[in-house]
Amino acid sequence: MWQELIDRALEAKLKAIAPFSRFPVGAALMTDSGIIYEGCNIESSSYGLTMCAERVALFKALSSGERQFSAIAIASNADQFCPPCGACRQVLWDFTRGIPVILISKSGRSIQYNLADFFPHAFDEGFLSHE
Ligand code: THU
Repeated sequence: MWQELIDRALEAKLKAIAPFSRFPVGAALMTDSGIIYEGCNIESSSYGLTMCAERVALFKALSSGERQFSAIAIASNADQFCPPCGACRQVLWDFTRGIPVILISKSGRSIQYNLADFFPHAFDEGFLSHE
């Protein structure tokens, strides 16, 4: 069902800039209208400034005016299925809520979760109400 999204995440992984970790990651985020935004991790010599593939894809989509998302695929070279990091879980939750998350392993196998599986008891803007 998500084959195109999976293929685009694998393509995005090839563009990763990961000379320090040597851990390339690719992400592909689909909008409700079917447009796909790719992202790869981009590492800085000041390690903490590195940006994950998922947030690159999300920020590209958001800055293009997109607001409605249907799924994200994430590819890495890990033998196991590599889930999004904590920071990406929060930001993805802020803008997508419970979308399907398809993880792709080094061998190309995939498995589908939901973002809510990775992020129970989430913080969101609802807690910021002062009324
Ligand atoms: N990385 C991602 O791109 N996404 C994640 O969810 C996990 C980590 C990147 C950041 C860094 O460039 C490398 O993987 C190792 O942490």
